[in-house]
Amino acid sequence: MEKRLMMRVLEGETGFPPPMWLMRQAGRYLPEYRAVREKAGGFLDLCYDVDLATEVTLQPIRRFGFDAAILFSDILVIPDALDRGLHFVVGEGPKLTPILAREIADLDPSRAETHLAPVIATVGRLRRELPAETTLIGFCGAPWTVATYMIAGHGTPDQAPARLFAYNHPEAMAELIWMLADMSANYLIRQLQAGADCVQVFDSWAGVLDEASFEAYSVAPMRAIVDKVRAAVPGAKIIGFAKGAGPLLKTYREKTGVDAVGLDWSVPLSFGAELQQGGAVQGNLDPLRLVAGGRALEEGVDRILDTLGAGPLIFNLGHGITPETPIAHVEALIARVRRTGN
Ligand code: CP3
Repeated sequence: MEKRLMMRVLEGETGFPPPMWLMRQAGRYLPEYRAVREKAGGFLDLCYDVDLATEVTLQPIRRFGFDAAILFSDILVIPDALDRGLHFVVGEGPKLTPILAREIADLDPSRAETHLAPVIATVGRLRRELPAETTLIGFCGAPWTVATYMIAGHGTPDQAPARLFAYNHPEAMAELIWMLADMSANYLIRQLQAGADCVQVFDSWAGVLDEASFEAYSVAPMRAIVDKVRAAVPGAKIIGFAKGAGPLLKTYREKTGVDAVGLDWSVPLSFGAELQQGGAVQGNLDPLRLVAGGRALEEGVDRILDTLGAGPLIFNLGHGITPETPIAHVEALIARVRRTGN
């Protein structure tokens, strides 16, 4: 078979129209997702149920024919494997037992292999069920972003608890970050060996770090993850999404060695074009342009295609699709990117 379009772009080729998928493309904006979600009971039950996780991963592919499917799971299955009391409170997001500095040495990563087995089984199932031309993306959270939830025990606006923890307990923080880096690399290796074509690492909270902390907690562990994954799976393709990293994306690309850099919607397109000198970029439509639709959507799409379309680009949103997004707007977006509309 000819190489999948998105994989070719990850190798540095330019494809026009560019391959496209949307972060969080399986989710509450889809009525068929909400129906499965009700049947599953809790959100985590859905993540660990091979049949249902396969089904919700396939839903946006069937409906929209995106170029890539992303495994349905969550970045917090790693702290769940560490038995951190993860649960989801409707309307409030994830809750965990906040970890204390002195507890970090007692964490036991050895449970992860068994605990995550259903997710790995889902990856294998997906590769068998997906259309041949559809790229399958595996993923995990970056150590820093996962650590922010483990430390605060919930989402916060600026991850102040984790930043303060890192300054007050640098040794415990390093221990946590490097343990998570090791677990994440192993987890990505298993996903790639089970059939994922490429993987994305979500560092959704990179943007709250100062320059030195970004180097220590985002860049250095990401470099280690990339090296470990490529040592086990030669040529593995890796997308790094360091949300909010702004101008630091340049050193992020150079020092981590990722194949594609995810751009959030605040990244100037001219800077995105500069980053394309080093390989593919992915992004970066403001998800609220998709909610608004009409001219806001069309202008946003056209600017991205005009500035980044001549280089290796994976079209995506600048962050996850929001639950209030109208399905008709997603259809309009696809027609605009693929130039199949009016
Ligand atoms: O379609 C896909 O993109 C695959 C599935 C996916 C989910 N979470 C499903 C999910 C992926 C890739 C994630 C990643 C994730 N999870 C991130 C990084 C990306 C980002 O958005 O920044 C983060 C920070 C999390 C942690 C998390 N999970 C939060 C903060 C929340 C609550 C917020 C929310 O949207 O409700 C979740 C829950 C979650 N993860 C949902 C989904 C579809 C909603 C839960 C539900 O259905 O009730």
